[in-house]
Formats: sequence, C-alpha cells, structure tokens
Amino acid sequence: MSIAIKIENLTKIYHLPKKRKVTGLFNFNLEIEEGEIFGLLGPNGSGKTTLLKTILGLIFPTRGKVEIFGKEIGDIGVKRKIGFLPENPYYYEYLTGPELLDFYGDIFELPKRTKKKRSDELLSRVGLAELKHLALRNYSKGMLERIGLACALINDPKLLILDEPTTGLDPIGGRETRDLLLKLKEQGKTILLSSHFLSEVEKICDRIGILDQGNLLAIGRLKELLKEKKTETFEDLFIKIIKEK
Ligand SMILES: Nc1ncnc2c1ncn2[C@@H]1O[C@H](COP(=O)(O)OP(=O)(O)OP(=O)(O)O)[C@@H](O)[C@H]1O
Ligand SMILES: [Mg+2]
Repeated sequence: MSIAIKIENLTKIYHLPKKRKVTGLFNFNLEIEEGEIFGLLGPNGSGKTTLLKTILGLIFPTRGKVEIFGKEIGDIGVKRKIGFLPENPYYYEYLTGPELLDFYGDIFELPKRTKKKRSDELLSRVGLAELKHLALRNYSKGMLERIGLACALINDPKLLILDEPTTGLDPIGGRETRDLLLKLKEQGKTILLSSHFLSEVEKICDRIGILDQGNLLAIGRLKELLKEKKTETFEDLFIKIIKEK
C-alpha cells in the first residue's frame, strides 16, 4: 500500500493578542493509505479543521511536516490532485450551480469540454440537475453543501478532503453522499473527512482517528477499537476515549 498522506510531528500553535496561545495540534503523527476512507472525530475545538487546513497548506504548521503522495504541499502538481470541501464555504452567491462549477473548472485549467461534461455529471450526482438556473443565494443549507461537494470533485481529485460533508443534509442527502463517497473509494480515491456523525463514520470509514485538544487519542479500525476498549457501541467508545484521557 502506498501512503497518500504522511504527517510527522505536526504542531500548530495559534498566537492570539496579549501573547496568549492556543494549541491547535500537538506533535501529531498520522499516515493515511491510498484508497482508504479515513474519518476524523473529536469534540468541538479538538483540532480537526486545523489538521485538514494544515494538510492543504491553507495554514502553516508551527513545527512538523506534511507529505501528500510523497510530495510537500507547496508542490503545485500535488494541489491539482486534491479536492476540498471546507467547513463553512463561501461562494459567489449570484452565480448558479453550473456557473460556480465552471469557475472552479477554470481554476484547474480544465478544457472546456471536460469542464462541461464533469459539471453536468456532478450536478446529477449531487441531486442538483433540476436546479440549474437557481442562484446560490437561493440555495438551502443542504443544497449549498451538495454544490460544495460537486466543486470539490470538479478536478477529479485523487485525494478528497471533506470537513463535515453532511452536516446540513437531510437523511436522504446524507445517504446519497455516503453512497457517492463509497463509489469514489471504489474508483481508487483516498478520502479524509471529519464528522460529528458517529453513525455515518461507522458506515463508510475504513479507519478512524479520535482527536482531543490537538492530540490523537486513538486510531484504528472501528471493530478493533471497540474490542480494545471493551465497548459495544461507537458512542460508548467515543465517550470513553474522550473521558479517559
Ligand atoms: N485562526 C485561529 N486563531 C486562533 N485560534 C484558532 C484559530 N483556528 C482555530 N483555533 C483554535 O484551535 C482549536 C482547534 O480548532 P478547530 O477549528 O481545528 O477545531 P475542530 O475540531 O474543527 O472543531 P469543530 O468540531 O467545532 O469544527 C480551538 O481551540 C480553536 O479555538
Ligand atoms: Mg471544524
């Protein structure tokens, strides 16, 4: 198995006014294999978004190293292979879905035909094909999440990084997104996601990592972790790990 993401001794300290500091991540190590779906879990403020943004090179680590497909994140070739859905995306709200996808397609310098084909395909895959003329300012929360996922896929990424991809989705949307992610995995993509939905993570992730206060408290396959911690449900496991630390 080759390694998609390798994180070594990653520390991120945020500096606040009056010399105050917040630790986002502390001496964090993690390896994610190519082709797996890896789920990050942890209480609010545990460092999930910080980790994802550091992997993407959107924020810089205080110490430590991140490699994606063996390359440092500054490498433009690597950035082309990544799709990202942020936690709170901000879109140009006067654009329609197809216009937004066209814009993202241009960022990746996709040829016109590829862009159109992918855009049509993705709009159907995320259930927005019927709403092509609706401006984003009239989208619901779940619809924005769906278009966000389509944007993250416009470059047909090898690695998909999703920060809470289903928070605003109804149960049908949640299942559709899960099915889509499983299909992408079948196509050989690597997916790293964060979520608060234990049942969702349980259904699709090959391995999970539980974070708290910038530390990785547990990592592994869910079945093995349940056995190791002598717990029966994912919820019990999560609470036990967070409280035991
Ligand atoms: N730009 C910033 N400046 C200062 N502190 C920050 C900044 N971004 C994050 N933090 C702090 O870093 C810690 C980790 O935050 P982060 O957003 O990574 O958590 P999270 O696990 O994604 O939480 P949530 O589940 O609520 O999305 C928190 O204490 C947060 O206040
Ligand atoms: Mg977050």
